[in-house]
Amino acid sequence: MRPDYNRRMTNTVGTAQARRSGILVTGGAGYIGSHTVLQLRERGERVVVLDDLSTGFRQAVLDTPLVLGDVADTALVTRVLREHDVDTVLHFAAALSVPESVRDPLKYYGNNTAGTRALLAACTAHGVSQFVFSSTAAVYGIPDGGRAGEDHPTRPINPYGRSKLVTEWMLRDVEAATGATGTLPLRHVALRYFNVAGAEGSGRIGQSRRDAFHLVHVAAEHVVGQRDHVAIFGTDYPTPDGTAVRDYLHVEDLARAHLDALDYLRRGGESTTLNVGYGHGYSVREVLAAVARAAGQPLTLREGPRRAGDPPELVSEASAIRRVLGWQPQRDDLDLIVRSAIDWERKLPGLGWR
Ligand code: UFG
Repeated sequence: MRPDYNRRMTNTVGTAQARRSGILVTGGAGYIGSHTVLQLRERGERVVVLDDLSTGFRQAVLDTPLVLGDVADTALVTRVLREHDVDTVLHFAAALSVPESVRDPLKYYGNNTAGTRALLAACTAHGVSQFVFSSTAAVYGIPDGGRAGEDHPTRPINPYGRSKLVTEWMLRDVEAATGATGTLPLRHVALRYFNVAGAEGSGRIGQSRRDAFHLVHVAAEHVVGQRDHVAIFGTDYPTPDGTAVRDYLHVEDLARAHLDALDYLRRGGESTTLNVGYGHGYSVREVLAAVARAAGQPLTLREGPRRAGDPPELVSEASAIRRVLGWQPQRDDLDLIVRSAIDWERKLPGLGWR
């Protein structure tokens, strides 16, 4: 008989529950997590955030319940899952800098791989049945022709990508094992993000780090006078203008993909792994030209050597997520993306986040 996936069965008791259960969002005080929490709350979902605030901000969750702590703290996670009657986990909490992962790989295998392993142990013990995982396009490494579909071989070239790929493998293995024990399997959607940027339109939340390193974020900080220049890492790539090409994606469209993944799992959808990108790329120089246009001022640029761990070109094959989840991006517009990042950066000093 086909199981009813809107009901939850616990490993220990096996009771089914009719009312819609809670959603745990790890890393919900971070950049992408907080945008997703906002959209979940706007449609009336019951959400609890778990975040250690190592890079996130308390203000970013607005009035959503926030539990301070680490995903690897099994006792804490178990308590949160029980108290909030959680059947779905959206797992954003992670370290996410490619260059840092090259310098400090064990931080990445610790936070991302071992941390998720501990979280999954708590989830399976509690009977969580749906899991949405923040994976990354970095699992592909250097794809042939610069484009990657979901069936492209995964050959990550940096520890960040490898730390996330191991988690994709864990999720598949855990599903097989939980399904075999007679309980509902832990089904998942792994979303392989391409390059997220921008901020939501109301000006309440956006990206903030003391150590910004993403291109659009760095350029936005330069526009508001927090940096005296923007470095271009590598001008000798085999790309049309010699700088690296990426698939830039508005954070609100990325957040929406998580809601679509949740709805898909609630409909009983099978576990799947999907790219989240628009399917077209821009070079570093093209992005910086868009930032200068949006700012209405020229940027001070400094050309430098390539950054370790960077592929020349990484663009999404983007059709599967539309077909499988029904995802319909609304903000596929580089000018809009960088404008929203600059608007947010201008607003940030008045908000007291740092
Ligand atoms: N870059 C610069 N100057 C900067 C910052 C970045 O030239 O000051 C360049 C980088 O070298 C790279 C490109 O801009 O060529 C994009 O770099 P980002 O740091 O903005 O993003 P990454 O492509 O390194 O990584 C991001 C996410 C990963 C994800 C990846 C997928 O952080 O999680 O996109 O493409 F895997």
